[in-house]
Amino acid sequence: MGRRTFRTLVASLFAALPLAQCDSVSYDYDTYAEGDPAGAPYQTYLSNTDLKPLELQINSNQSGLASGYVFIGVNGEPTSTQNWPAIYDMSEERMGTLVWTGEYIEPFDFRAQTYKGQPVLTLFTGELLNGYGHGSYYILNQSYVEIGHFSPVGFENLGDLHEFSITADDTALVPIYHAVQADLTELGGASDAWIFECTFQEINIQTNKLLFEWNATTHVGFNESYNTIEDVGTEAAPFDYFHINSIEKDVNGDYLVSGRVMDCVYKISGDDGHIIWRLGGKQSDFQLDANVSFAFQHDARWVDDEQTRLTIFDNGPTDSVDYSRGLLLSVDQNAKTVSLIQDFYNGAKTFGQFEGSLQAINRTDPNTNFMLGYGSQPFFAEFKSNGDILLDAQFGKTNEVNGYRAYKLPWQGKPLTKPDIHFDSDRNQAYFSWNGATDVEDWVVYTANSTNTTSWMNVTSARRTGFETTIDLSDVELGTYVRGQAVNASGGGLGWTRASDGNQLYDAPDDVETISTTSMTSSSTSSSSSSTSTPITTSSTPIATSVTGTAPAPASSTTGAAVKLAHEVRGQVYVAAVVIVGGLIV
Ligand SMILES: *[C@@H]1O[C@H](CO)[C@@H](O)[C@H](O)[C@H]1NC(C)=O
Ligand SMILES: *[C@@H]1O[C@H](CO)[C@@H](O)[C@H](O)[C@H]1NC(C)=O
Ligand SMILES: *[C@@H]1O[C@H](CO)[C@@H](O)[C@H](O)[C@H]1NC(C)=O
Ligand SMILES: *[C@@H]1O[C@H](CO)[C@@H](O)[C@H](O)[C@H]1NC(C)=O
Ligand SMILES: *[C@@H]1O[C@H](CO)[C@@H](O)[C@H](O)[C@H]1NC(C)=O
Ligand SMILES: *[C@@H]1O[C@H](CO)[C@@H](O)[C@H](O)[C@H]1NC(C)=O
Ligand SMILES: *[C@@H]1O[C@H](CO)[C@@H](O)[C@H](O)[C@H]1NC(C)=O
Ligand SMILES: *[C@@H]1O[C@H](CO)[C@@H](O)[C@H](O)[C@H]1NC(C)=O
Ligand SMILES: *[C@@H]1O[C@H](CO)[C@@H](O)[C@H](O)[C@H]1NC(C)=O
Ligand SMILES: *[C@@H]1O[C@H](CO)[C@@H](O)[C@H](O)[C@H]1NC(C)=O
Repeated sequence: MGRRTFRTLVASLFAALPLAQCDSVSYDYDTYAEGDPAGAPYQTYLSNTDLKPLELQINSNQSGLASGYVFIGVNGEPTSTQNWPAIYDMSEERMGTLVWTGEYIEPFDFRAQTYKGQPVLTLFTGELLNGYGHGSYYILNQSYVEIGHFSPVGFENLGDLHEFSITADDTALVPIYHAVQADLTELGGASDAWIFECTFQEINIQTNKLLFEWNATTHVGFNESYNTIEDVGTEAAPFDYFHINSIEKDVNGDYLVSGRVMDCVYKISGDDGHIIWRLGGKQSDFQLDANVSFAFQHDARWVDDEQTRLTIFDNGPTDSVDYSRGLLLSVDQNAKTVSLIQDFYNGAKTFGQFEGSLQAINRTDPNTNFMLGYGSQPFFAEFKSNGDILLDAQFGKTNEVNGYRAYKLPWQGKPLTKPDIHFDSDRNQAYFSWNGATDVEDWVVYTANSTNTTSWMNVTSARRTGFETTIDLSDVELGTYVRGQAVNASGGGLGWTRASDGNQLYDAPDDVETISTTSMTSSSTSSSSSSTSTPITTSSTPIATSVTGTAPAPASSTTGAAVKLAHEVRGQVYVAAVVIVGGLIV
């Protein structure tokens, strides 16, 4: 099949089907959710029954990963129905475990950014239409409290989903898919056809004042489009001739804009909106080598302020490559030359037909790692700058779940909620979690005979193993009530859970005097999982990432306190044990 034929097929598929139902061909081996045809496995917790984040499958991981968390706005149709934003821990110790998720349905461009000097979470949410959106933009502070919510100027709740960037000037860059009438006779359409203007705005977030506005239709000819009109061009289905999908402002105040169905990245003047140059497409100012040639691309970004390196997610297919890949390009804007420095693709050579991202994780590091998000297919991967795969992960069932972009970013979460506890008094297990808290190093368990006493006795503690940490209390003497305190790396208290007697939760004071158990007797420093009443499968890995039903491998040793991580995957509970440094003090 020739390029144009395939392109037309892909373009019309894209134009005709709603985003969530768009079927994709993936060249991966897809072992995710094998034996679980119902769909994507998700994690559940006893201490927080509201959350059901997707289970990650780590296909491979190597040392040398960049620090930071993985941010995914889960879209599509996860079995849990929680298509929410999710932050995952990718440290060696807690790889694949949840950090935070919250109820913002079908989020797009979910990530951490800086606003007014403070770290914030940002996302789009709204209505998903045929390849675009109608919605608005949210800013959350480190406590997950909304501190900003806005729409494009003059387009209340009509913002598009493809971009929400906060610039160094604390302004927002957002797209709008607004339909207007146009004469499309040159393309074989009607003289009064409907077309998307493909607009972007730069907005002062604080005042909602419009600072800059640009429309593709004003500057870019319809004849530059590879998209064909077919049966669109009506008011109900406007012709999407440009498909704006990324906008970035550079240090000189000009903009870099990606037009998907143009196969082109445009540099646009911040003074008057004229096109400074085109990279790719029918009227490229640059000559593209075969190994640079891209199609249906997303996420065009400058890597350096000097504008010598550019990243693009090349969805493809092109004449030479039939899978999606990240491109790191060397660009000489004066000589108008562009060359391939490196391309990035995962082990399965996945084809992500739409959406997708490539992030230079640390822009100031010449040897930075790169993060690739496959967009319409639920995969992400991290690479060394030479293209070696360091992490290859899947977060949902192919063709069922997707995530517009995947980012690796630093984050510190300080929720205002209390941490959560579930105490199973029959099995003597306590479960602790705190949605969004990044600084919890240990959970310390306390007991008392009254909920309202200010005097609580510490009985044991354990290192946080993931989102939920399970602590075995079989070998400790407990009063009537149990509660936990989240403690950071320097031993500082971060928050207290409510108290539980195994039947229900009770409010209990946070301003308490803690009593040490060191005066109390006994010995059991070699508690092992066999001393508990539940049969436990031990493992050296802190999390059961296996979703194929295979039992975790046995632990090499169990000295010190055995901390179990109960990890339910669609009804099946996997229990793993890890060794805690420090051990029990009973
Ligand atoms: C990461 O790789 C190591 C070494 O291959 C492996 O032991 C570990 O289980 C992997 N971690 C996850 C979460 O898959
Ligand atoms: C987030 O905003 C809320 C409400 O204004 C405030 O109480 C909280 O302290 C803020 N959190 C941070 C980390 O600034
Ligand atoms: C761009 O398009 C929008 C939406 O149709 C319209 O409201 C606006 O006036 C146009 N702006 C410019 C600068 O052409
Ligand atoms: C599109 O039309 C303009 C104006 O007629 C012309 O200058 C340009 O070369 C055409 N571009 C293509 C790709 O045909
Ligand atoms: C890309 O293709 C050009 C022209 O064939 C070649 O000179 C160059 O080495 C190739 N670059 C890479 C990174 O493969
Ligand atoms: C990013 O890279 C620079 C230069 O190598 C380095 O100084 C800095 O610590 C890195 N930042 C992070 C978060 O790793
Ligand atoms: C709870 O009461 C029992 C029985 O009086 C006593 O043995 C135990 O020490 C008390 N526990 C605490 C934590 O006060
Ligand atoms: C303290 O708690 C006990 C039971 O836990 C209850 O009987 C008592 O009324 C409470 N006292 C106050 C002052 O709330
Ligand atoms: C209980 O508190 C004492 C005194 O702060 C401390 O030495 C001990 O390590 C704590 N025990 C546990 C199990 O946290
Ligand atoms: C730990 O928490 C305390 C507050 O309880 C705080 O003062 C301290 O700076 C924190 N330490 C670290 C390393 O975050």
